[in-house]
This record gives sequence, C-alpha cells and structure tokens, in this order.
Amino acid sequence: MKHAPHEIIIQSDAVICNHQPASESAMLFLRDEGAAVLMEDFRAMQQLYQSAIKEITTKLEILDEEFQIRHDHNPIHNIESRLKTPQSIADKLERLGYPLSVDSAKQRLRDIAGVRVICNYVDDIYRLVKMIQKQDDLTTICTKDYIANPKPNGYRSYHLILSVPVFLADHTEKVPVELQLRTVAMDSWASLEHHIRYKSSTKETQVLQQRLAKNADALAAIDADMQEIYQTINRLE
Ligand code: GTP
Ligand code: MG
Repeated sequence: MKHAPHEIIIQSDAVICNHQPASESAMLFLRDEGAAVLMEDFRAMQQLYQSAIKEITTKLEILDEEFQIRHDHNPIHNIESRLKTPQSIADKLERLGYPLSVDSAKQRLRDIAGVRVICNYVDDIYRLVKMIQKQDDLTTICTKDYIANPKPNGYRSYHLILSVPVFLADHTEKVPVELQLRTVAMDSWASLEHHIRYKSSTKETQVLQQRLAKNADALAAIDADMQEIYQTINRLE
C-alpha cells in the first residue's frame, strides 16, 4: 500500500512523521527520492546513528564504573542522547543549501547523533575527554573547548565530534557522533539560555542576555570553588 509522505510512521525512539502534517521542508525531504525507498534508507540511517549512540554511551558508562571502582568517584552525573529528527535534518540541509536526501544528510551533517554527558566537576570533563580520545577504535574529527574559551554569551561546554565504527552484518560504517560534556551548572545555564534564542531581540531580551552572561561567569567561579572544596575534603583524614 502506498502512503502519502505525511502518513508515514517510523517505529523508533524519535517518531518522525506520526500522522502529523509535516512542514514543507520535511515534505520536500520525503518526496525527494520517492517515499518508499527513502523511508527504508531513513530507517537504516536512524538505526546506524542510534547504534553509534549506544556504543558511545556504553563506553562512557564503562569508564564511569571503572573510575568509581578505582577512585571512589563517579565523573558522570548523567548521560543524555538524542537523534536529530528528520524535520530538523531537513531544516538544516535546507538552511545550508544542501540537497534533501539521506546521502546528503550522512555526508554533510555531523550532529545527527548527539550524546551529552553531564559531569560533576570540570576536571571530570577533561579526564573523560582524554580517556575517550585514547580509545583506538574512535577518531576525533574535531574538538571545541568552550570551557577554556566560552562563547561571548557565556556558553560553556566541551564539544567533540567522534567517528565511531558501527559493525553491521556485511560491513563497518564510520558514524559521526557529537559529544558534549558539561557540568550540572553549565547544563542548567544552557537550558535556560536556549529559551531566549527563539525570542526576537528587544531591549528586554538584551538585558536578560547580559544577566545570563554574568551568571555564566558566576557559575564558572562556583564550579571551580566546588571542585576545590571536593578535592580538599578528599585530602582530609
Ligand atoms: P550547529 O550548526 O548549531 O550544530 O552549530 P555548530 O556546528 O557551530 O556547533 P557548536 O559546537 O558551536 O554547537 C553545537 C551545539 O552546542 C548546539 O546544537 C547546542 O546544543 C550547543 N550550543 C552551542 N552554542 C550554544 C549556546 O550559545 N547556547 C546553548 N544553549 N547551546 C549552545
Ligand atoms: Mg547542532
């Protein structure tokens, strides 16, 4: 049975077009290669990127458990992951002027798979980055240290794009995964700041942005002090 593009449902964690009228860009994306072929490719792509997320998440969990046993401390507070939705993939490809196809998405986008690691202390972030980069089945495509070099708005996090091998039935595919590492404080700041991004700029939003930038610095100072307190407590008898 042939489905109209907007009726196609994908069974996965990230529901794609669940009977909702898709936006124009997503419709274009679905029409581009013919719905049936595209949906199969799309599902394969989702599965591939989801597998890469699983691999990275497992690696991080193993490192966290080992660290707990060796040093009586969990560097990881929690791990979140997300698969970019087709809507968001289509929007980004369109924005960048690339063709709307599965191949194009695989070639051009490096944030289809995203893993966010919330750490207890800043030191934990750098330790985890080192441990992850030492693993010889992973390749670092790029790093951005927004902790050492915060964005002008105050945003802090450590970003890595990793190339992760996913072992399939008859071949191995290298899949990019965007890994973001941040402290609990950086994470709560980023969640709040995220909301202001979608508001149009007014005098009021500019004041709020200034307050956010000030708070980002204050939170960084608190992060550093909390880590120092933790280290001092550890040295006590
Ligand atoms: P994108 O094309 O948006 O993915 O950006 P990019 O390729 O320049 O990558 P970058 O590493 O700068 O940012 C990628 C991701 O980091 C974003 O999708 C957000 O999740 C997060 N991020 C980056 N900058 C900010 C920021 O200023 N505020 C918040 N809240 N999140 C940010
Ligand atoms: Mg992104």
